[in-house]
Amino acid sequence: MWLANTKADLRARLSSEKAPVILVPTMGALHPGHASLIDLARIKAGANGTVLVSIFVNPIQFDRAEDLESYPRTLEPDLAICNEHGADGVFVPKGGEMYFPDRSVTIIENNLANHLCGTTRPGHFDGVCTVVLKLFNLTRCDAAVFGEKDFQQLAIIRRMLRDLDLETEIISHPTIREPDGLAMSSRNRRLTLEHRADTPRILRALESASTGNTPQQILSDARDILEESPFGKIDYLSLVDAETLAPAETLSSPTVLACAVFYGNIRLIDHVDISPRA
Ligand code: PAJ
Repeated sequence: MWLANTKADLRARLSSEKAPVILVPTMGALHPGHASLIDLARIKAGANGTVLVSIFVNPIQFDRAEDLESYPRTLEPDLAICNEHGADGVFVPKGGEMYFPDRSVTIIENNLANHLCGTTRPGHFDGVCTVVLKLFNLTRCDAAVFGEKDFQQLAIIRRMLRDLDLETEIISHPTIREPDGLAMSSRNRRLTLEHRADTPRILRALESASTGNTPQQILSDARDILEESPFGKIDYLSLVDAETLAPAETLSSPTVLACAVFYGNIRLIDHVDISPRA
């Protein structure tokens, strides 16, 4: 497995790799959720194709400086995971490699990003779109794998592809969870033991509320369970249309019940799909 730290290294390495190139973009602090994306990329690439993982804590997608500073950075174990899961190469751009100090072009998605995480994390998805487009251009990947855990991110990336006529194939992978239901996240390792013990409440709230018969009932049932927590503070709790991500007025088409909850300064997100009621 090779490691490239500069765009020039990456280009040189990729020039001798075979298609298809399947990219797994990450910010590192890899866990079994990321590993399952790499496994899927390996299957899609086949024995001769190329699996490339990128590890880059993208500064322009962080809306809180404190979150960027405390984001876990664990390069050695990350490289071991990439290797164990069959990556051919890893791109870890050095500081300054990705952005010019006077960069002045940003991708702005101005519809789906106005809901859910976009409302409480201004500029976050612009940062995501910008770095993902740069990674697609730098790697010229045929396909890229993303997790459904970040379903708004996935929807926005698909929208960017559609609207900008990009031909990269987007492959999605279901959310990988801890045995007690907490969605795996690089941020989980920063939870205190007390907070960690309370976090299965998030999926419990979403799942038990999802059987409700009206949007109002679903939202109030989920809110009740989340608000009983001595630690968790709701950032948002929304029931949205699965396509437009706008608040759902009815249950007649597919919807998604999604939330973000702060445990101390750690923000956790999760969602469940709700099928339409007959
Ligand atoms: P990061 O949070 O490191 O996640 C990298 C990829 O792993 C994303 O596609 C995310 O959805 C997926 N992932 C994370 N936890 C998962 C889980 N428990 N189960 C399945 N997939 C999971 O998302 C980002 O980085 C960044 O925004 C990025 C796309 C790399 C752009 O900077």
